[in-house]
Amino acid sequence: MLPDIRLGPTNRTFRPLGLGTWQWGDRYWAFDPEEGPRTAREAFTASLAEGVTFFDTAEVYGGGKSEEILGQVYRETASDAFIATKFYPLAHIRASSVEKSLDDSLERLGVEKVGLYQVHHPFTILRNEAIMGRLADAVRSGKVEYVGVSNYRQRQLRAAQRALAKRGIPLVSNQVHYSLMHRAPETDGVLDACRELDITLIAYSPLAQGALTGKYGPGRGKVAGMRRFRAVFRGLKKAMPLVEALEDIGRAHDRSAAQVALNWLAAQPGVMPIPGAKDGRQATENARSIDFALTPDEMKRIDRLSRRYRKHGPPLVGM
Ligand SMILES: NC(=O)c1ccc[n+]([C@@H]2O[C@H](COP(=O)([O-])OP(=O)(O)OC[C@H]3O[C@@H](n4cnc5c(N)ncnc54)[C@H](OP(=O)(O)O)[C@@H]3O)[C@@H](O)[C@H]2O)c1
Repeated sequence: MLPDIRLGPTNRTFRPLGLGTWQWGDRYWAFDPEEGPRTAREAFTASLAEGVTFFDTAEVYGGGKSEEILGQVYRETASDAFIATKFYPLAHIRASSVEKSLDDSLERLGVEKVGLYQVHHPFTILRNEAIMGRLADAVRSGKVEYVGVSNYRQRQLRAAQRALAKRGIPLVSNQVHYSLMHRAPETDGVLDACRELDITLIAYSPLAQGALTGKYGPGRGKVAGMRRFRAVFRGLKKAMPLVEALEDIGRAHDRSAAQVALNWLAAQPGVMPIPGAKDGRQATENARSIDFALTPDEMKRIDRLSRRYRKHGPPLVGM
């Protein structure tokens, strides 16, 4: 059983894994408008049933649909779910748009406050300073509990933390691409900076968008939709020794390759993966990836086979 994780320097703790909801309503994931809302609901309730309470969305996912679905199921179940959403700077001209975007997100979610409000990607230094000011105001207004960023490099992270600290607000998280097929945060200084500054690293695309599950690859299933054009799937042949090792290790623990890949990430200090799930089965499987421990030899074997991805991995679409 992996220990709970604290969100940045706050007193708030979580099981060390959340649920990503980009899948809910977005065409990139071939969302099915008929069945999708029902299976998304199942993913939500299955996660909560397993003790997973951290849910990640964004104003741009499905053009707002993900927030709508998440908000609806959240309100109907009166749960203690913690909602993290994001402001997308590229979609707005001025830093002052933060307030309007936040209000729009709150409306789609049907709530008065979100747990975590993240800047989806860095922009210019000047604009980031202004955005941090607006985010600090949002905390003071009571509409946001904590502030985070996403896709920030270590220098940008330090600047964001300083800008918020001037206003008496802590920066609690940096959400970045991190998986066994993309270990760049370990070598580009982001993971070290997060640990030094007591900022939680929220790991997105922790299953390499499905590439690490063992479902896809030569002689296995073919990925459908836009994803099949991504380098991560075109380069899957090279990753097969890693995927096969995950399956092999999984057999020893009665777990799947996906569960081993998530466990490895969640076991890294200060890291919380947020796998996306479309349905209850995937959400349950992912939530059960953190209730066992890999042996030191297994950790070493995985590390060795995924070392080629320490500098960078095949690019993915990041939203
Ligand atoms: N901040 C950012 O810029 C950014 C960027 C990307 C993602 N994110 C966030 O991170 C979350 C997760 O990343 P992601 O969705 O890109 O990729 P991911 O979590 O690596 O992969 C999710 C996909 O893997 C497959 N899958 C999930 N669990 C599975 C299981 N147990 N067994 C078999 N297949 C399984 C599903 O696709 P199939 O069933 O179709 O194979 C699912 O849609 C997103 O939902 C979003 O909240 C943020």
